[in-house]
Amino acid sequence: MTRIFSGVKPTGHLTLGNYLGAIRRWVEVDQHRADALFCVVDLHALTVEHDPARLRRLSRQAATLLLAAGLDPERCTVFVQSQVDEHTRLAYLLECTASDGELRRMIQYKEKAEAARRSGDGVRLSLLTYPVLMAADILAYGADEVPVGDDQAQHVELTRDLAVRFNQRYGHTFTVPKATHPRVAARIMDLQDPLSKMGKSHESGAGIVYLLDDPDQVRRKVMRAVTDSGTSVVYDREVSPGVANLLEILAACSGGDPEELAGVYESYGALKRAVADAVVELLRPVRERHAELAADPGYLDEVLRKGAGRAGELARPRVDAAYAAIGLLPG
Ligand code: AMP
Ligand code: TRP
Repeated sequence: MTRIFSGVKPTGHLTLGNYLGAIRRWVEVDQHRADALFCVVDLHALTVEHDPARLRRLSRQAATLLLAAGLDPERCTVFVQSQVDEHTRLAYLLECTASDGELRRMIQYKEKAEAARRSGDGVRLSLLTYPVLMAADILAYGADEVPVGDDQAQHVELTRDLAVRFNQRYGHTFTVPKATHPRVAARIMDLQDPLSKMGKSHESGAGIVYLLDDPDQVRRKVMRAVTDSGTSVVYDREVSPGVANLLEILAACSGGDPEELAGVYESYGALKRAVADAVVELLRPVRERHAELAADPGYLDEVLRKGAGRAGELARPRVDAAYAAIGLLPG
C-alpha cells in the first residue's frame, strides 16, 4: 500500500494557504487511498524565534484543526513530531549524508535567514539543517508520496537526493519519495501582497485568511484584497496577480477552473463577493468542528498518544536499519 507522509509547522495560526495547498487533499483524498501519516512538526517551529507557551498552544491548535478539517484517526495517523524520537535520531545520520553547500542553496533558508538578520535576531543553526530534519520525517516512514504546496518542492527534491545518496553509499535503506501538488492552489498568495506567498506570519495579517477567522473577518480581508487598476476579470498571474489569486482561490473552493471562472464575473467587486462567500462556506464546518473538539482536550491527547505510538513503531525498524547500514554498532 502506498505510504504518505506530510506535515504542518505550528509557527502561527493555520491559513487558507495551508488548507487549500495541503490539508484539504489529505482529508479528501490521501487518507482514503493510502496508509497516511500527518504530523504537527513542532521541532521545525524551533528554527526561528519562538515563545514556548505560544508554541504549545499553536501545536495543540494545529492538531485540533487537522481533526476538525476531517482527518479521521481511525483512517490515518495524526501525531506530533517531538513525541517520536526517531525523527531526530535519523536526522543526524542524514546530516552526515548532506553537504553544507546544498543546504545553503535552499530558497527558504535564504529568505528566512535574511528575515532573521533584518529583524536583528540571530540565524539559528537549525534553520540551515531544517530540510535534513524534514528529510528524516519522510524517510523514517518509507513514504512514497509527500503531498505539499509548491513551496516545499525543493525540500522534497533534497530528500530524494539524500535517500539516493545514502542507498548508494550504504546499501538500499530508504524509499525515494516524490512530492505531489494540488492541481490548483499549490501556491495561494497574500491578499495584500499577491507576489508573496500567504504565510502564517506576514507582519500585518491583513492579507492572510486564517482557518479560525470568523465570517466577518474573512469577508473584510477578501473585499480589501489588492487587485490592480484594470477592470476586466482576466486570469493572468503575470499581469494581474491579485485577480489570478482570487480566481484560483475560487476555483479551489468550487472545483472549477480559474480560466473559465474569469469569464463569469463582470467586475472585481462581483468576483470578490463570490470568493468571500465561497471561503466563508468552506471554512464554516471546520470552525464549528474545531470549537467542539477544543471543548474536549482529553480526546485530542488520546489521539496524539496513539498516533505517536503507531508512528514510533513504524519508524523504528527503518531507522535501526540505517544505523546498522552506516556502520554503528547495534544497541
Ligand atoms: P507550513 O505552514 O509551511 O508548515 O506548510 C504546511 C503545508 O501547507 C505545506 O505543504 C505547504 O506547502 C502548504 N502551504 C503553506 N502555505 C501555502 C500557500 N500559501 N499556498 C499553498 N500551500 C501552502
Ligand atoms: N517544511 C514543511 C513546511 O514548511 C513542513 C514539513 C516538515 C513537512 N516535515 C515535513 C512537510 C515532511 C512534508 C513532509 O511546510
